[in-house]
Order: sequence, then structure tokens, then C-alpha cells
Amino acid sequence: MPQEYRLILKHADEPGYTPDIECYLRHGGYESLRKALALAPRELPDGKRMSAQEQIRDEVLKSGLRGRGGAGFSCGLKWSFVDRRSGKPIYLICNADESEPGTFKDRQIIHKDPHQLIEGMVISCFANDVKLAYIYIRGEMPEGAKLLNKAIKEARARNFLGPNILGSGYSLEIHVHRGAGAYICGEETGLIESLEGKRAYPRIKPPYFPAVLGLYQCPTIVNNVETLAAVKHIVAMGSGEYAKLGTPNNTGTRILSLSGHVKRPGYFEVEVGKVTMGELIFHENFGGGMRDGRKLKAIIPGGSSSKVFKAGETFKLKRKGPDGQMAAVDVGILDLPYDFDSLQQAGSMSGSGAIIVMDDSTDIVEALANVSEFYAHESCGQCTPCREGALWMSKALHRMTHGHGRKADADYLLHIAQNIQGRTICAFGEACAWPVLSFVKKFKDEFESRGAADEARHGSIQGATGHPTAASPGLPVI
Ligand SMILES: Cc1cc2nc3c(=O)[nH]c(=O)nc-3n(C[C@H](O)[C@H](O)[C@H](O)COP(=O)(O)O)c2cc1C
Ligand code: SF4
Repeated sequence: MPQEYRLILKHADEPGYTPDIECYLRHGGYESLRKALALAPRELPDGKRMSAQEQIRDEVLKSGLRGRGGAGFSCGLKWSFVDRRSGKPIYLICNADESEPGTFKDRQIIHKDPHQLIEGMVISCFANDVKLAYIYIRGEMPEGAKLLNKAIKEARARNFLGPNILGSGYSLEIHVHRGAGAYICGEETGLIESLEGKRAYPRIKPPYFPAVLGLYQCPTIVNNVETLAAVKHIVAMGSGEYAKLGTPNNTGTRILSLSGHVKRPGYFEVEVGKVTMGELIFHENFGGGMRDGRKLKAIIPGGSSSKVFKAGETFKLKRKGPDGQMAAVDVGILDLPYDFDSLQQAGSMSGSGAIIVMDDSTDIVEALANVSEFYAHESCGQCTPCREGALWMSKALHRMTHGHGRKADADYLLHIAQNIQGRTICAFGEACAWPVLSFVKKFKDEFESRGAADEARHGSIQGATGHPTAASPGLPVI
């Protein structure tokens, strides 16, 4: 029976569980921090000593924890890139922007169990010699900011934060910074710029990544809320036990946001890779199936910027056979394990863990128009392909959903999207191009038949209203 496995949200929905520190302490809160601060240096067989901080960093690396913010990058590996020799302060920023459409999991931790995040942050800061940390929370979450500020005050009053934490000699301050509600502030370098008081223009990387030159040009760690909350559990359980949860290379638990046309939308914490896409959508413990009389049409598997899946698709996944050799195996969409690697091999990504389900009542052109309007609005405008391309795609889709499409629009949209991806400063370029590329390729008949029907009604639109001109033959004006 596929089920939730609640590690981070273990207590969050229990009757009577509240976000205050007394409740957290009654449930074993801050014990992992005590354990971390009390770690003694360890002698290694080669005679070297491993400090408490190094031991925690090593545990996080060995746990296999992968970032829960979108890219799924190894948390321990990211920490290992931090420049510890620069002599500059090291900062840690908790990314609580949670702006990827379809995602509503970080706010469950913040609203229901904020001390878990604070504890995870203090341990992570201790492990990385951080003395000052920030929580960057999106502007539309004022209640979350209030709860976090209260939690910080409570933690400081109990000496879990502030100077000389629990008599360990280690001191840390955490500040909450509220964003003003721009999607690009979730991108880590845009976030850093915003935190510095500037416009959230993402920085070009490489050559410099935040681990070397981040906030105020100092080494900086940016991690997602859920990633940092998981650190507390890795310290509590040990990396070995944590890594037993989930599947190889996809360890631990993940909080998934399930929305759209299912009977039971909501958030579910599962062991990574132990539940399939079909179970998440159809099983009574999760989505409970499609609305009555409806059939599955499409799934956005990892937030609106991930490539869409079409019902009935099959994928070639790499799997170890009985002889221990890797082989390509056909896996249907409903049997796809929900983990980082399987979704990537299937041509999409698990991103922020936000699954948006669409049934056969969905107008796929309308759905893409909706997604594209969001990206056109949120582009920061630094790079021409993203700034112009996102707007062109949105305008073309707007035209198509208002009765003025043409058959050639499908190829036109693909042409623009192909010229955005890989040609921009930050991954927003891919975020706005991938939905277009996947929706149009997988549902091309719907885009073309709609355009053809409009052309049959109105005739071919020419010139400034939408079609090839002498100035740009072949490339229509939007
Ligand atoms: C356009 C864009 C928006 C993003 N939005 C978020 C976000 O809202 N929250 C988040 O944690 N990461 C977001 N990310 C990913 C961050 O840049 C960064 O990789 C992440 O915070 C690192 O944390 P992790 O390693 O713990 O996942 C976004 C990335 C891009 C390109
Ligand atoms: S890709 Fe888009 S959002 Fe990212 S820097 Fe360029 S214009 Fe800004």
C-alpha cells in the first residue's frame, strides 16, 4: 500500500500541535542542535582530526541529501565548494521564496513547524562557520514572516540563537528578509542581489558561484527551506539511517505539492522514489484519482517550468538488470517512480516537487497561454532572448486563445522557445522555454487544428496583426 512517510511533517498536522517553541520542545525540538554542538573532534586512522563541523558536513554529504529547491544538487557537495580560506565571513541564506507555480510545501514547514527550519539552519550554520544568516521569504507570505520572526525571538530567548549558543562558544544571528513578490527572487543570485538592496538581476555564472562570491562578494550558501529542515533529521538519525529512506541516489523524503484535477489535492511527504506517478495521482492515500467521469490528459511533474508529460507516454529508463548490468527499460508514465533521476531520464524534472494534473476537460492551448503569461510577466529583462521571447510567446498564445490563431503558430512558438533556451544568463530562460517546447511538441495537433480553424474562419492574418512581412519574411510579427 503506497503511503506517506512523514519525517519533516511528522507532527505538523497532529491535533494540538502549534508553531510555538514550547510545543516544539515537548516533541524533542532542538535535541539535534544539542547533539551537533556537543560533538567531540574525531581522531581518524591517519592521525588527522575531524572537527565537529567537518563531521556534520561529512554526514550531510554521506546522507545523499539533494536540494529540494529545484535543481536537486547534492547539499553536501554544495557545502564542500564553500571558500573557507578567503578570510571573509561566510553567509547562509534560506531560500523561502517558494515562487514556482504549483509549489506549496515550504510554507507548510514555515507555518506549522517554523522551529524545525530554525534548528536545521542553526546546525547548518554551525557546520559551515556561519555567523550571520538570512531567511529570504516571498512578499506574499506575511504570516510566514511573522511566524519566523516570532520563532527567532523564542529561540534567542532560550539561547538556541544569539551569542554563545548553549554555552558552546558558537554565536549566530538570523534575520528574516521579506521579498516584494518577484519570481526571479527565487533564483539564488537574483535573491542575493535583492538581499543586497538591488534589483533582482541574476548574476552570470560561471565563473563565480555563490559558494565563492555570493552575498556582499563573500562565500555564501543558498539552500531551500525543506533542504535545511532535512539537515536536522540527518544529524538526529545519522546519515546511514537517513540514506535508507528513499532509493539509491534519491535519498530521504520529499514533500510533494499535488494540485489540479485530482479528487484530493494537497501536500504529501513520501520517501523519494518509493511512490509512482500513478500512485500519487490515483491512489486513495494520495490524489484519489481524477474527477468523476474524467480522464487524465497531462501532468506537469515538477512545477510550471518542468516539461509536461502526456497521458499514455512511455519512457526508456536506465535500470540495473538481474545480471547487474545497466539496461534501458520501457516504463509507462503511471509507473514512473517519483524521484530526481527517473523524471530526468523521462525528459523532464522533479523540480520543486509540484505536480499539476490536467484532465481531458483541459484546453491545452489555454493552459500554456496561462503559464506563458506568467513567465512573460516575471522575466527580469536583462537578456534579450528571455525578455523579448517570453513576451512574444505569450502574445502569440494570447492571440491564439482569442480566435486569431494560425496553423503555423505551433512551429512559430517552437522557433522562439528554441532560441531562448541555453542563451540566457539564468535558468529562467529554460523555465519559460521548456513548457512551450513540451506542450507544443506533445500536443501539436491541438495547436495546429485550433490555428487552422481560426484561419478558416477569418482567412490568413497578414502584416502587423500577425504574419510574415517583407521586413521579416518567415518570421511573423506577433
Ligand atoms: C527562475 C528560478 C526560480 C527559482 N525559485 C526558487 C524558489 O522559489 N525556491 C527555491 O528554493 N529555489 C528556487 N530556485 C532554485 C535556486 O536558484 C537554488 O538553486 C536553490 O534555492 C538552492 O537550494 P537547494 O540546493 O537546497 O535546492 C529557482 C531557480 C530559478 C532558476
Ligand atoms: S534569463 Fe530572463 S530572468 Fe534570467 S537573467 Fe535573463 S532576462 Fe533575467
